[in-house]
Amino acid sequence: MLREFLTRQRYERIGTIPLRAYPLSVFLLVNEIFNLGRFVTGRRNLFGVSLFPALYESITRVRDFRLSQLYDIFLKNKRVHRRELRGLKLDQLLSGGFFLSADDRVSSVVRVVPYRDSLFLTDPWDRSIEQFAYLSYDSFIACDLVIQEIGTASFERCLDVCCGVGAIGIALARHNAKHLWGIDINGRAIDYAESNAEMNDLENYHFLKADFFAWEHRGTFDLIVANPPFLDADSCGPQRPVDSYGGREGFEFSLRLIRKALDHLAENGEFHLITRAPFTGKKDLLLDRLGGLLKNETSVSYTYLSSSIDSRKEIHRLFKLVHIAIKREGNPGFRVRSKGKIFALSHVF
Ligand SMILES: C[S@@+](CC[C@H](N)C(=O)[O-])C[C@H]1O[C@@H](n2cnc3c(N)ncnc32)[C@H](O)[C@@H]1O
Repeated sequence: MLREFLTRQRYERIGTIPLRAYPLSVFLLVNEIFNLGRFVTGRRNLFGVSLFPALYESITRVRDFRLSQLYDIFLKNKRVHRRELRGLKLDQLLSGGFFLSADDRVSSVVRVVPYRDSLFLTDPWDRSIEQFAYLSYDSFIACDLVIQEIGTASFERCLDVCCGVGAIGIALARHNAKHLWGIDINGRAIDYAESNAEMNDLENYHFLKADFFAWEHRGTFDLIVANPPFLDADSCGPQRPVDSYGGREGFEFSLRLIRKALDHLAENGEFHLITRAPFTGKKDLLLDRLGGLLKNETSVSYTYLSSSIDSRKEIHRLFKLVHIAIKREGNPGFRVRSKGKIFALSHVF
């Protein structure tokens, strides 16, 4: 019901509005030209980095008031006055339990994120929700990359490890996977993943709540993808959320995951992982550890995607987002490449 309503309103157009605000830098000033180009031509900016997200929101409000209302309600989960909803004919959604109501104000209990040809339900951005489950920009970076790499290839059995609400797995199940398995330790994320697959009319999926490291599974997969937790202890703070904390340096979880995933990768299978590498001076600490782990693999590519400096600490530390691809049928070699597009000073990752 929600999907039909939003599809009718062409909700996916909110994807042109950048959501993430960043402080001024010369690089981002140049990047803003691209943001503007994408906004004007109706291409995706959502979760992109922008200096002035509020400007895009204001222009949208003037150009298309209804769309900006939907953006406020379903993406930003703002509380809005009931009378503001009148023009939207949301009565069915109100009775369908999609809204919380207090006084004269209502707010959506779910966040709705448009991505490619699907809509995804997640929790509103509120870490106080128990087993909080969400989608963020690294989900889309990971998903775009995997899709770019595999193109229209099709795979019999695919596994999305740490699948969250199912963004990567669902994109694969739609276009590349005959059968898709998704696994996550967070039961709430798995519930969302199932609803998302159903909402997007899929049937070829099996989502499973389990700790990947304790998962006993005999078969192998032709494609394994993962966007696991990868923040280090300093970036996470004392709470160390299960969706973000990747170990003291941030990559320990990824190393364990690679080790186990490779045991489940078919003979001519393919593996893709997004993680974050911390640097000490010029030394990439993750790359340093990988050689031994991947010594039996024939084709590995290790690609830097973007850089950030965590400026909260006394000693500024450089991190790079990394894509690791292993192809058991690919050209032999261990290639280190750089696509480094974004360079951001980050306070919040
Ligand atoms: C950064 S989120 C990414 C979610 C999803 N892959 C995406 O791109 O949107 C990491 C996910 O890993 C899950 N996770 C953490 N530890 C896990 C474990 N031991 N086994 C399975 N999933 C785990 C978390 O619950 C969270 O959903």
